Amino acid sequence: MFDSLRVPVIVAPMAGGPSTPALVAEAARAGAFGFLAGGYLSAASLAGQIDRTRELTGERFGVNLFVPGVRSTADLRPYTERLRPDAQRYGVEPGSPKWDDDAYSAKLDLLVARRIPVVSFTFGVPVAADIERLHEAGSAVLITVTGPEEARQATEAGADGLCVQGFEAGGHRGLFTDDPADPAGGQLHGLLAALRLVGAVTDLPLVAAGGLVHGADVAAVLVAGAVAAQLGTAFLRADEAGTHETQRRALAAAGRPTAFTRAFSGRPARGLVNRFLLEHSAEAPAAYPQLHHMSKPIRAAAGEAGDPEAMSIWAGQTYPLAGDGPAAAIIGRLREQARLALGKNAHRFG
Ligand SMILES: Cc1cc2nc3c(=O)[nH]c(=O)nc-3n(C[C@H](O)[C@H](O)[C@H](O)COP(=O)(O)O)c2cc1C
Repeated sequence: MFDSLRVPVIVAPMAGGPSTPALVAEAARAGAFGFLAGGYLSAASLAGQIDRTRELTGERFGVNLFVPGVRSTADLRPYTERLRPDAQRYGVEPGSPKWDDDAYSAKLDLLVARRIPVVSFTFGVPVAADIERLHEAGSAVLITVTGPEEARQATEAGADGLCVQGFEAGGHRGLFTDDPADPAGGQLHGLLAALRLVGAVTDLPLVAAGGLVHGADVAAVLVAGAVAAQLGTAFLRADEAGTHETQRRALAAAGRPTAFTRAFSGRPARGLVNRFLLEHSAEAPAAYPQLHHMSKPIRAAAGEAGDPEAMSIWAGQTYPLAGDGPAAAIIGRLREQARLALGKNAHRFG
């Protein structure tokens, strides 16, 4: 799936703005591999992004989708009331707590029709019939997992590869279930532990993700058995990324720790600690995507006001070390660092 890459680096799908056709095309031009992020987009917008990417590059690229989950039955009125003062602060109303499947079927039909080389999934495993349709369309299927039990399920379902996400990763955890009562939901594996545990239960090729920001990190996960490294945060401030200006500034300032929170979306995700995260994390119910819709007007208004305190600023643990500039330069740097790191250490193993 990724054997022919000149640089075994994958630019992660980053929904909500950062992923763009230009970022994906530049990744391909630099010898790496990019993903468009299908999450939150309508099928029509995603189609537009796929077409634009194909105008910009003749190289292979991937598209990522969110697998719909189970609808939470939690009473969300208390959380709406909790968000009201925040909404007032920015002159908006909390959004309505609607559940939806993120237009999953329409987007899957689109990907089958457009014959996308690699289709990746997060938040679960697609049903076998959908995987089969993608295979018939010539797509390889990559499924995000956070531990060995999910890896077993994804392997049985017919995946062609797994993206192993460590807890260092920015953005949403790819957990199959966000039921707080489910023991798998409470497991937090660092990337190296996750790679080792997953590698013990499957023979599928593994892509490693989470906290990788230097070429030596890319080299390290390849040495640990991965076929490629998937980096998100390292590209958040790339010139071609669509990252919001307020988020770029907060990332560049590098002054905040990161933490997991359900407060913005209802699912655990790692982002920069800000006022909204501190005030609401403890009370946020596990109700995705209802909380995503409820907090959306607040996040948008805060962004417009240039205020990072009520935006979700997803980023991995190593974000203070990520730079800016053209994506091709970031990829070139990773490549040189990886070569140096491997060369420097090769003799130590005899
Ligand atoms: C802003 C942001 C948005 C993300 N959106 C998605 C997404 O839409 N789909 C997905 O599978 N992973 C998403 N991720 C997670 C990445 O696929 C990957 O696991 C993560 O970026 C790796 O950790 P790192 O950010 O430390 O490199 C996102 C990550 C970030 C930082």
